[in-house]
Amino acid sequence: MSSRPIQIAPSVLPADFSRLGDECKRLEDAGVDRIQWDVMDGVFVPNLTFGPDVIHSCRAGVDVPFEAHLMVVNPDELVHRYVEAGCEIVIVHAEACTHLHRTLTNIRELGASPAVALNPATPSTSVRHVMDIVDLVLVMTVNPGFGGQAYISTMESKVAEVAAMIELTGRDIDLEVDGGIGPSTAPAAAAAGADVLVAGSALFRDPKGLAHAVSEIRSVAEAARR
Ligand code: DX5
Repeated sequence: MSSRPIQIAPSVLPADFSRLGDECKRLEDAGVDRIQWDVMDGVFVPNLTFGPDVIHSCRAGVDVPFEAHLMVVNPDELVHRYVEAGCEIVIVHAEACTHLHRTLTNIRELGASPAVALNPATPSTSVRHVMDIVDLVLVMTVNPGFGGQAYISTMESKVAEVAAMIELTGRDIDLEVDGGIGPSTAPAAAAAGADVLVAGSALFRDPKGLAHAVSEIRSVAEAARR
């Protein structure tokens, strides 16, 4: 069982896009640990979202780290722009990288933390040979492209596999899950080994507000690991 603290990484996908800077501040004030930008190119996934300039415009307003989740077909062309925009962590999809080891190495050389995401059908063994260079592995618990989808509970076995792989490395690697994460699903994901929880809808739709949602998800996840 992971002894790493549970971290909450909100997706800004459900945020008010007309006030993204204010929304980032609201998230920081609500106690999130980092902010995840779901970058979509309309090809790797059917949706289209944030360019680097949008992210850069929000960077100075908050102190929490930014992570760019690149759901794009050509990450090698874009990685440097999201690092320059102020993203400390850059997540590329294993499925979008012909030379994943080289792409991750490039992210490190650009001064950011290299991270890799796995779609639901992609096996954990796909990242076996890059565990020495990643700082984060993201196990998608929905098929990427949109917020508000149902959590895929069969991904918990993959989370456990990745947790075991991380254990073997002895390295400090984040295990992140993304998609359908909320108070009812976070406990099982955390018990399986996840320590960074990406949530969008569950945070923004909580009638008691963002701070309540952040605190609730964190506490039920931590309780599930005791
Ligand atoms: C899918 C997105 C979503 C988003 C979170 O491509 O990555 O998973 O971040 O969505 P919710 O928390 O609303 O399921």
